[in-house]
Amino acid sequence: MSSVPTTNFSPVGGLVESARHPNAAETPPPVAGSIPSPHFALPATMRSETESSFSDEPFKIPVADRVKRLPPYLFGKINKLKHKKRQDGVDVIDLGMGNPTDPPEQFVIDKMIEALADTRNHRYSVSNGVENLRREVAKRYDRKYGVQLNPQSEVIACIGSKEGFSHMCLALMGPGDTAIVPAPTFPIHSYSVMLASGNVIALDVRNPEEFLSNISYTCEHLFPKPKLVIVNFPHNPSGTCIEQDFYVDLVALAKKYGFLVISDFAYADICYDGYQAPSFLATPGAIDVGVELTTMSKGYSMAGWRIGFCCGNSEMVRALGTIKGYYDYGIFQAIQISAIVAMRHGDESIERLCLEYQHRRDSLVDGLNRQGWDIEAPKAGMFVWAKIPEPWSEMGSLPFAMKLLNEAGVAVSPGRGFGEEGEGYLRLAIVENTQRLRQAVREIGRCLKPEPAVV
Ligand SMILES: Cc1ncc(COP(=O)(O)O)c(C=O)c1O
Repeated sequence: MSSVPTTNFSPVGGLVESARHPNAAETPPPVAGSIPSPHFALPATMRSETESSFSDEPFKIPVADRVKRLPPYLFGKINKLKHKKRQDGVDVIDLGMGNPTDPPEQFVIDKMIEALADTRNHRYSVSNGVENLRREVAKRYDRKYGVQLNPQSEVIACIGSKEGFSHMCLALMGPGDTAIVPAPTFPIHSYSVMLASGNVIALDVRNPEEFLSNISYTCEHLFPKPKLVIVNFPHNPSGTCIEQDFYVDLVALAKKYGFLVISDFAYADICYDGYQAPSFLATPGAIDVGVELTTMSKGYSMAGWRIGFCCGNSEMVRALGTIKGYYDYGIFQAIQISAIVAMRHGDESIERLCLEYQHRRDSLVDGLNRQGWDIEAPKAGMFVWAKIPEPWSEMGSLPFAMKLLNEAGVAVSPGRGFGEEGEGYLRLAIVENTQRLRQAVREIGRCLKPEPAVV
């Protein structure tokens, strides 16, 4: 692999680098200060995972540059086709987005109904989350990871972890600041930095050892040095997982080079085959340099409720709290109360849910591998990251995803939506039940079956 092969521009004028393996480097990575004029066409990437209904037409009003420069919406075509298919009565099997189809536990819904009936819960809430909620989060960290957090200063509730993540980037990053993000890239990891006018360097994360050595190479050669490193294990979309020693090395690098760390730990709860995803905060010294985001969207199937947490370094938490204090009035209190109950009594439900996802993973991976795909079963997360098999590998992930939707009625995410490192792959979310996944495998098999030779 070559080092730092591509340079693109962020939607807001920040520099986007894509770096691979520096050890084989012949050219050093570009310097953040040497930013050429920002008039390049942006590569089409997935703007966000939302099925946004907004068009990509240029605005007729003078919107800010940060909005104008957002890239074309790669998923627009797929979403349009998906809606059309549904309108035509096709039963699309939707493996596109990590949006759980399972409901939360009944006791959580019951608590919500009770909390809704209490008229005291309908006022504005505090923007950093009610105290009992922050205490419950701290207790869970202690129970699960042996991490002791001060609920007053080291825990803050967010309107989903994505909101916390984005606003943390806004609190930390500005023009001239650079963040390292994992590639392939969950879109908000780079767009939050770009929307905050920062520069992005995307480093391939699929070999965690190389990822670490690329971080240190970048820190050695970039001036000014990166201010922030974003990590996300279990990784969306590639499913890459790490062990605790990865974070020991990361914390050492953070201290050596003076960068901050945001760990997006969205898939903390969804682990298989006895694997337990490690928490960044369980590493000695981690709290000196970073924070970790967790969510109730995945393990508790509460995605639409919009509740997550940012924990760790008290100055970073305070910076986020300061921004949030201006932007929002907190999460609906009935949701916060239900979240407390979910965390207090939900451990067993999460174990059951993990087993269910594990069955789904096995149905999909084994089924496709039987058809000649070569997919490694992920140890965690809600996605299968699949290399497009021959003879389709040259087709491009977007046309191939369109073909699967058109001819098999199965919606998936093209790897290209996660940046150029994702090309040649598909991401399939295991959000539908096992029966539907088996049906998806059958339909994909039928659609890719070679035509019988004409004699
Ligand atoms: C890596 C990652 N981070 C964050 C999120 C968003 O989580 P939340 O619902 O808590 O905003 C997702 C959702 O798909 C995700 O995949």
